[in-house]
Amino acid sequence: MAKKWLKIVYTEKNPAKLKLHYKSWAKEYDKDLTDWGYAYPKRLKDIILSKKIKISKKANILDAGCGTGLVAEELSKLDYKNLTGLDNSKEMLELAKSKKIFKKLVCQSLNKKTTLKSNQFDLIICTGVLTAGHVGPGAIKELLRVTKKNGYLILSISETIFKKLGFDTELANRSNEYTPLYISRPFLALPRHNSSAKNKIYILRKS
Ligand SMILES: C[S@@+](CC[C@H](N)C(=O)[O-])C[C@H]1O[C@@H](n2cnc3c(N)ncnc32)[C@H](O)[C@@H]1O
Repeated sequence: MAKKWLKIVYTEKNPAKLKLHYKSWAKEYDKDLTDWGYAYPKRLKDIILSKKIKISKKANILDAGCGTGLVAEELSKLDYKNLTGLDNSKEMLELAKSKKIFKKLVCQSLNKKTTLKSNQFDLIICTGVLTAGHVGPGAIKELLRVTKKNGYLILSISETIFKKLGFDTELANRSNEYTPLYISRPFLALPRHNSSAKNKIYILRKS
C-alpha cells in the first residue's frame, strides 16, 4: 500500500478528500518518505550551509505546508528555533507538534488568505506543497505578503505542473516583487520511488 500514497495524493482533485488521505497517511509519512530517499531535508540543509542565503539563528521562519515537519527538522538541528508551521491537515500537524521543534502551529489552507500577519517572516520554506491537487499558484501572493522585505522564500515546484497550473505566469506577473537568487536543475524529490516527480527549487528574495 505504501507506494500507492504518492499517486493517491497527487491525483486527488477534491481538497476534502485530500485531507482524508493525509489523515490516513500521517503516521507512516515520515517512514515512507525516508525510505523513498526524500531529497528536501538534505537540499535545505545544503542551501543553509552553503550560505546562498544569509539567515540569522533568530530568524522568524515559516514552513508553509509543513506536514509532519520532516524538512523543518533540519532547521531545528541547525539551531533555528523560531519556527512556525502551517498546514491544513490536523493529523499532520499533530505529528509536527509531537516533535517539539515548532514554536507555533497553524491549521489553515494556503489556497486562501491566511490570518498570518504581513511582512513577518525572514524565511519561508515550502516543499512538496506547490503541486497538483495541493496548493496552486495563488499562494505565491500570500507567501510574499507574509515575508519581510529582503526575506527569502525557498519553494519547490513540480516540473510537470509548473506551466500547466500557471506557476510560470504567476511568478512572471510578480517579478517586480522579488529577486530570483537561485533556480536548481530539475531533480527527483523521491529518487527511490518509481513515480517521483521532477522538481526545481526556487530561492526568491522579496524586494
Ligand atoms: C507532500 S506533503 C509535504 C509536507 C512537508 N512540506 C514536507 O516536505 O515533508 C504536502 C503537505 O501539504 C499539505 N497541504 C495540502 N493542501 C494544503 C493546503 N491547501 N493548505 C495547506 N497545506 C496543504 C498536506 O496536508 C501535506 O502536509
